[in-house]
Amino acid sequence: MEKYTVITGACGGLGRAFVEILANNKENLILTGTSAEKLKKLEEEFSEIFKEIKVFTFVLDLAKKEDRENFIKFIQENHLEVNKLINNAGVIIEGDLERFSDEEISNAVEVNCVGTLDLTKKLLRIRNKENLFEVLTVASVASSYPIPHMAVYAATKAFLVSMMTSLAVEYKKQNVVFTTLCPGGMATTQAMKDSIKSMGLGGKLSTLSTKRVAKIGLKALKHKKKVVIAGGFNKILVAFSKPTSKSFQAKCTGKIWKKSQMKRNF
Ligand SMILES: NC(=O)c1ccc[n+]([C@@H]2O[C@H](COP(=O)([O-])OP(=O)(O)OC[C@H]3O[C@@H](n4cnc5c(N)ncnc54)[C@H](OP(=O)(O)O)[C@@H]3O)[C@@H](O)[C@H]2O)c1
Repeated sequence: MEKYTVITGACGGLGRAFVEILANNKENLILTGTSAEKLKKLEEEFSEIFKEIKVFTFVLDLAKKEDRENFIKFIQENHLEVNKLINNAGVIIEGDLERFSDEEISNAVEVNCVGTLDLTKKLLRIRNKENLFEVLTVASVASSYPIPHMAVYAATKAFLVSMMTSLAVEYKKQNVVFTTLCPGGMATTQAMKDSIKSMGLGGKLSTLSTKRVAKIGLKALKHKKKVVIAGGFNKILVAFSKPTSKSFQAKCTGKIWKKSQMKRNF
């Protein structure tokens, strides 16, 4: 059976970087996203490099259990062997808790945590146990400390780091590798560009291109690293915060985020 790599959120900023690198590596791909139109455009855009590989697309809203189940059926019915999963899709929500609707909070938790975990479990169950199975999950530097005014997002990413690191140990002897990638800033959307700009020098130093971040993640996966922080400045930030208390970290990050949000009239 031919082997495939699944990329969630393939049409997004970082997703596209994974698509480009892995297609150039001649890996067969299964690209997922929430919109058939966006997936079609992505296929058209990368048609040249897709000529030498096999590519499937599938509309998969990670927040929908039915979509996740249909996706697994699609893989089984087409006799595809998935041996790499890039859990890239994620929802970035920012602001104080009360401003979010119930739907916004549950969508962020469903996509970032429940859906990502469920998809990982379902793909693990149907893997070919004779071959290596690799899982690269995109968390964030925001997983490293509590972030007042961006608390939901930071907590969903902390969930991912904890979960995937546990699984890395749980599955160590079962030919399965779990790596969690923690990027700082990436100027993928207008909201992210504004956020990075409002953070001044710190924002600039924390930011890397999507291609650079994707490469760092894939290299760490190859070397079976459990967690990788993308970029020297971000590594220093995380290392310096480690010995301090969660309460102190929250005080510092809360001040930084409040100031940044005021600059953006948030
Ligand atoms: N940008 C940053 O500064 C930054 C920093 C640290 C970590 N990250 C993480 O990096 C990853 C990629 O983000 P990005 O910056 O590339 O943002 P992006 O361009 O907005 O991409 C996010 C992707 O998530 C997908 N997605 C959203 N809701 C979904 C759902 N319900 N079901 C399935 N897919 C869904 C989107 O798919 P569709 O386009 O098909 O809707 C989109 O492709 C995310 O996990 C994010 O949390 C980003």
